[in-house]
Amino acid sequence: MEKIDDDSQLVRIPITQLVKFSDAFAGAEIHLSIGGKFVRMNYATDEFVEILRKLQQKDVEMVFIRQSEVKKIMQEIQESLSAKTFYDPKTVTETKVETLDDSMKTVKNIIHQLGVDSDTVTLLRLVNVRAMSILSESPSLYAFIKRFKKNCSDEFLRAMLTSYVMSLVIDKFPWRSDSVKEKGAMASLLCDLLMEKEDFAILRKWEKEGGDLPEHIRNHPMDLADKLRTKRDLIPSETITIIEQHHELPDGKGFPSGLNASRFNQLSAIFIVSQRFIEELFDAGFDYDKRFEITAKLQKRFDAKTFEKAMDALITVVT
Ligand SMILES: [Fe+2]
Repeated sequence: MEKIDDDSQLVRIPITQLVKFSDAFAGAEIHLSIGGKFVRMNYATDEFVEILRKLQQKDVEMVFIRQSEVKKIMQEIQESLSAKTFYDPKTVTETKVETLDDSMKTVKNIIHQLGVDSDTVTLLRLVNVRAMSILSESPSLYAFIKRFKKNCSDEFLRAMLTSYVMSLVIDKFPWRSDSVKEKGAMASLLCDLLMEKEDFAILRKWEKEGGDLPEHIRNHPMDLADKLRTKRDLIPSETITIIEQHHELPDGKGFPSGLNASRFNQLSAIFIVSQRFIEELFDAGFDYDKRFEITAKLQKRFDAKTFEKAMDALITVVT
């Protein structure tokens, strides 16, 4: 191993993602963080996966690659989602779902560290398009969850189901279009980019029990919106508004701003009720029989003029 001094351009990547996309990462220069110092590993390309697996056995979860190699890796991932590869008849749907989940995680991890650029946005769009196509082939939302929940992460399932329900809700409006659906889908994929795994548990506990919500969780919608606002050419303003408002409630008890009901626009309202429906469905253990109970609960919580049409459309779609 050889020590390197310039660590300014290293990007943190979970080993699981390198193993999953081993073709994309093969030959990439891998660095380890040892005692606060970055150390470049020397190894032959054909031993790539084997060495990474050995590191995993030593409980190493993260390694580092050079920022200059990220572009190539994004291209390889895009290739794995290209129509030709993705719709190969030999590829089973479970594998496609796993590939989408891993692609989303890799892209989000890179966005988290380097910010959005046109390649990462293109990939996120592609993940959404492919996931929506699989979801639309499923007999129902519940059938999809039942079949694929073992093949993907909770995070992926929630983001994709929100995007799907939202697209069905948007279809109930005269202004529906693929471009509006995509704006919502981007919000669904990005809204919790700054949240760590343990933050979700804290947030869900807070939603049930109240109390103090840590500042970084309270501010995650605004912090991300501020970051994305610098990339207006890539992220539509409607997407940023949804991200800002995704934890607000019409009674003013949401966060971070405690907005009152009149401040929500129609697309944010649709996003919020769709996302809440999916959250409640997870809490209810994906029980199809609980759908009426869930929508009745949401109707009480979103009992405001600005949410009326969104709630009516949601009920038509999910019950
Ligand atoms: Fe959030």
